[in-house]
Amino acid sequence: MEDESFAMNGGDGLNSYKKNSKFQRQGFDASKILLRDSIQENFTIQNNLNGNITTILRIADLGCSVGPNTFACVKTIIEAVKLKFETHQDFKTQLPEFQVFFNDQVSNDFNTLFKGFSVDRNYMVAGVPGSFHGRLFPKASMNVMHTSFSLHWLSRVPEQVTKEGSPAWNKGRVSYVSSSDEVVEAFSAQFVRDMEGFFAARSVELVGDGLLALLIPCRQESTLPSDSILAHIYECVGLSLADMAKEGLVSEDLLDSFNVPIYIPSPSEVKNLVLGMKSLFSIERLDELLFPTNLSTPNDIRACVSHIRATVEGVVCKHFGSELNTEELFERYFHKIEEFSKTPRFTNIENVANLFMLVKRNAVNSI
Ligand SMILES: C[S@@+](CC[C@H](N)C(=O)[O-])C[C@H]1O[C@@H](n2cnc3c(N)ncnc32)[C@H](O)[C@@H]1O
Repeated sequence: MEDESFAMNGGDGLNSYKKNSKFQRQGFDASKILLRDSIQENFTIQNNLNGNITTILRIADLGCSVGPNTFACVKTIIEAVKLKFETHQDFKTQLPEFQVFFNDQVSNDFNTLFKGFSVDRNYMVAGVPGSFHGRLFPKASMNVMHTSFSLHWLSRVPEQVTKEGSPAWNKGRVSYVSSSDEVVEAFSAQFVRDMEGFFAARSVELVGDGLLALLIPCRQESTLPSDSILAHIYECVGLSLADMAKEGLVSEDLLDSFNVPIYIPSPSEVKNLVLGMKSLFSIERLDELLFPTNLSTPNDIRACVSHIRATVEGVVCKHFGSELNTEELFERYFHKIEEFSKTPRFTNIENVANLFMLVKRNAVNSI
């Protein structure tokens, strides 16, 4: 089944992802040294060149959105690989050419992405539309692949949660945080299926010894799926929509059939998935970076609302259609986040745990 496409807000206006992705940028900045150092420690020049005389190194950023964060990620990766060449006795005069592939879903605003390319960049570029849950590149063609803040997006909302009569029907809610075990199970099973598809595709595309760097927003280790601050913040969109449904501003049927396709795993859920594929990948580096969610002032709350709006408005509008008054929805959302920030629940779970992981494709390619 083809993935559904849920893109972030395009363009560079007030509500765009481009103007509202500072949280992701802070998360990337905190993991940047890990990315740089782990690439330098694990990138092997000889294996990546594979005997080729022309040295083209291929890099991909998967789920790149419209920028600008993707450019910072790519710059860090190129600098790390370049330094590896420059400090190698046999290769310092043979610097490679870099080709960078920017991937996102077909509905991503690639025009805004392309306009953001710097003219004096030291790499060639290509846009690759399509889902990273499946194959995007030829066999054994990629050297370093990267993805940040994208893998928690599911390929689809699990079918049973929007089906009336199903034990996993998630009536009146848009996430799994306050729902039955069946709903939680449906979301987590979808996450596992999607991640398996993601890793299977990368295992074919990466060269032997190729590297895959992942930065994934997680909930803290040893907590329940319902203890994810991020999922609660998305559920507040549902609470706002539910109020609008009560006032007849939104159809209840539409609300009952709407869920945000997001699942926030624990670090060990991701780690165990990779360990289960140990014939294909080895984990070279794993770190959990804790981020407190700051909702202390109206400005913090406004920033949180703008950030979530830039990621979810497209999915909401696609489902509810042009009749939904989005200004009203996100104004109500501000107040729901404000209320949530005052609950003991918020204080107990206020940390997001960003998981950084560098995995290596085992050298024996089974292709
Ligand atoms: C929150 S943004 C992160 C963008 C960027 N990596 C950053 O760190 O700022 C998540 C991106 O993942 C993309 N995405 C989600 N599911 C995807 C899929 N199956 N295939 C490709 N891209 C996907 C979304 O379209 C979105 O642009």
